[in-house]
Amino acid sequence: MDTLEIIGANSKSTLFIGEKLENISAYLPSSQVVIITDARVRNLYQDRFPKGKIIEIGMGEEIKTLETVQHIFSELINMEADRGLFMVGIGGGIVCDVAGFAASTYQRGVRFAFAATTLLAQVDASVGGKNGVNFSGYKNMVGVFNQPEFVICDPEVLGTLADQDRGCGLGEVVKHAAIADDDLFGYLEENVADILELKPQAVHKIVYDSVVIKSGIVNRDEKERGERRKLNFGHTFGHAVEKVHKLPHGEAVSIGMMVAANLSMKKGYLKNAEIARLENLLTALKLPTRIAIDKESVMEAMRHDKKRENDTVHFVLLRRLGEAVVEPVPLSDLESAVDNMIG
Ligand SMILES: NC(=O)c1ccc[n+]([C@@H]2O[C@H](COP(=O)([O-])OP(=O)(O)OC[C@H]3O[C@@H](n4cnc5c(N)ncnc54)[C@H](O)[C@@H]3O)[C@@H](O)[C@H]2O)c1
Ligand SMILES: [Zn+2]
Repeated sequence: MDTLEIIGANSKSTLFIGEKLENISAYLPSSQVVIITDARVRNLYQDRFPKGKIIEIGMGEEIKTLETVQHIFSELINMEADRGLFMVGIGGGIVCDVAGFAASTYQRGVRFAFAATTLLAQVDASVGGKNGVNFSGYKNMVGVFNQPEFVICDPEVLGTLADQDRGCGLGEVVKHAAIADDDLFGYLEENVADILELKPQAVHKIVYDSVVIKSGIVNRDEKERGERRKLNFGHTFGHAVEKVHKLPHGEAVSIGMMVAANLSMKKGYLKNAEIARLENLLTALKLPTRIAIDKESVMEAMRHDKKRENDTVHFVLLRRLGEAVVEPVPLSDLESAVDNMIG
């Protein structure tokens, strides 16, 4: 097992990578434990849960709402949970986002932790202290920065993931490698088969390296004033494609990374050979790199992006594989990069 720490403004968070879900009780206080999970995770792994009351939430992005948080509050009140409560989110990114937000706001905040059970939650969603829900059609519109006390990342539970959910996590792993770690990029290229099979050793390596990268960035810029924006590589365009074409997040980010890579080439940063490496890796990991898009609707969605300032977007570009820069980019440049590669 490996341990990493994130130092947030208000608190510290410890990540246990390679710890088993069934060992979670060792990290919990003896006070009242309340578990937030979803039906699928509960059915698969309830025998590994710690002792405590369980509140089940629904599944899918549509339930990442204030209504779900209200449901949790009602259940907590029904069980007369007080501020001594310790909340544990056991599940994927949705469970973690909702549980983190509910814990941060119930009675002005109670203690909480996560056991991240999807690859995406292990490499991304459970790390960094962003907790929130969607509102009125906008993703993650309402939320707080607040670090969980700890996160457990057990590679074993990933064996039951659907292929699509594996792809979502792998998209973020490639993102981390592309923005900050050319060694990890090389490892991914050389170990595609083990990674696709989610072999424990390969999972440990990609989760650990991803978390080192993400936690390093978060430690330097918790509130996303500068460097943390690099984690949005592939996401500005990706979110727009995700929204318009209803693609899974990882697939949309994969396409978004290719658009950003093309733009990086136009700026004179990335070489053709590097774009080819990125495209080959994403393809080997069974992620799409091109789709026929409805360009007008995607550009319109980009204009509504909350990170937009006037007619430019803060865009994450690659100087090379393993190094990112954030630059304001006019939407018109972006449009021509899209013209260049779609089809
Ligand atoms: N807070 C952040 O910094 C951050 C970062 C990235 C993503 N996110 C959020 O994370 C969410 C997506 O997370 P996700 O991809 O984990 O989706 P998810 O939570 O919906 O999980 C995907 C599916 O996998 C199932 N599942 C979970 N663990 C499983 C297991 N071990 N075996 C089999 N099935 C399992 C779940 O029941 C669910 O149906 C999005 O809402 C996104 O906005 C948040
Ligand atoms: Zn993402």
